[in-house]
Amino acid sequence: MKQYLPHKTPHSERFTPFLEQGKTQRPLYRGLFNYIQQRILSAELPAGSRLPSSRELADLLSLSRNTVKQVYEMLQAEGYIETRHGDGSYVSPQLTLSRRTTQRSPGPHTRPIRLSAKSEQLEQIRPLYQQHKQQLLLPAVPALDQFPWQQWQRSVTHASRGMKFHTERDFMGEAALRTEIAAYLTATRGIHCDMRQVMICSGSQQGMQLAFSMLLNPGDRVLVEDPGFPGIDGAISNAGGIKLSIPIDRNGFRTDIALHHQQDARLAFITPSRNFPMGYTLSLERRLQLLEWARKQGCCIIEDDYDSEFRFDGPPLTALQGLDGEHSVIYSGTFSRILHPAMRLAYLVLPPALVDPFNRMRGFMDGGLSALPQLALADFMARGIFSSHLRRMRKLYKTRRSYLLQQVTQIFNGQLRWEPSDGGMHGVFLLPPGIDDKTIVEQTMKVGLGIRPLSYYYDKQPARSGLVIGFGGYDEARIDAGLALLKPILEHHLKS
Ligand SMILES: Cc1ncc(COP(=O)(O)O)c(C=O)c1O
Repeated sequence: MKQYLPHKTPHSERFTPFLEQGKTQRPLYRGLFNYIQQRILSAELPAGSRLPSSRELADLLSLSRNTVKQVYEMLQAEGYIETRHGDGSYVSPQLTLSRRTTQRSPGPHTRPIRLSAKSEQLEQIRPLYQQHKQQLLLPAVPALDQFPWQQWQRSVTHASRGMKFHTERDFMGEAALRTEIAAYLTATRGIHCDMRQVMICSGSQQGMQLAFSMLLNPGDRVLVEDPGFPGIDGAISNAGGIKLSIPIDRNGFRTDIALHHQQDARLAFITPSRNFPMGYTLSLERRLQLLEWARKQGCCIIEDDYDSEFRFDGPPLTALQGLDGEHSVIYSGTFSRILHPAMRLAYLVLPPALVDPFNRMRGFMDGGLSALPQLALADFMARGIFSSHLRRMRKLYKTRRSYLLQQVTQIFNGQLRWEPSDGGMHGVFLLPPGIDDKTIVEQTMKVGLGIRPLSYYYDKQPARSGLVIGFGGYDEARIDAGLALLKPILEHHLKS
């Protein structure tokens, strides 16, 4: 039996609100479709009710008949209406939906989606600072104004031409890039590897996520430096691991303390070339102790070598991986700091025994990365642009650091004490006792500075108060501008 729309709501009342609400939406047919769909879902157009003919509706809304016909066809294709030959169009009789299930915005009966216990744990973890590119003196920003853009564009063009013939994919990454990275690491970092051990990742953050999930069982302990890199906290927690925060001193990670936990720990995550953020280098004696521990216990060491290319007084130090004999160390490097943070390209060098299991997991995890940026970077490296850019940046950062040190000493009369480090892209400056770095940074952030409080990088150990100031991405004028913003804030705290 036909069920007509109730008499007191003729078509004009039902459909003319579209003229105000939906007619502004483009394309027009999408606006009308959405309008009628919503009326059906909210049961304003009840199941089984008859719709006006396409001619009637077109006249009513001053639309072309073709537009209305197209909308009716779409509604029919998606099951909202039925068109009965020679009779007309009806809201599908089986659409007896309650308002509750069809309301777009959540109502009192809508239960929120439940997160896994794992994701809820992430809320307990110290949040990462958001970076804004207009902030000055951010610690991990390279000199983007010095990046060889033209050469990079050439590499991108070359890579995109190559894509035409590129059909296969490898979860480990593009062979051309892996070959370049293996050659670069062998020549400059004393690393033993061939390209088959190199896995390309979307930032070292992804590499860590993968490594922790492959190496940890829930409840396993991970030895980490304190202070250290907070970016790994989420990855450890996500894999069910538990951090054991180990203090550092000027010789780096305190192996004497760490190895007390040797029974518990399954993995160590360290920055041996330059501790993040303090800049200390792990001594040879401690390197050997760690390697021995890892071998005896069947444990793994993840060596995060995030910016050791920028050692100012001499060539980069040999990586821990180079001492290892390809057994226990996973070496992690990134292009975020050397080239561009948004490139999101990094790599792991895996011990041969881990290549197959990691490769298998990668297939399930993301199926590998997009080929284009990898091929572009491979070309950029093969043409020697990468190494000459690195050499230039090493000199530039050294000059920028000297300038920052000189200005800080002059402006703050030695009250900010530099913690010596042999390179990098940021400096750590200790504050006089009793001055809280977090309060200062809350204020400096408001005026557009990206300086970080040193205490933020501490986990369990008593935190030192200081400022982590980036210089890599800033020329003298911008260092001056940044320090001019810092000066009144810091002076206020130094006086009070
Ligand atoms: C110590 C350290 N390790 C790793 C990373 C992460 O690098 P990526 O950008 O490749 O994820 C950073 C980023 O700044 C870092 O400071």
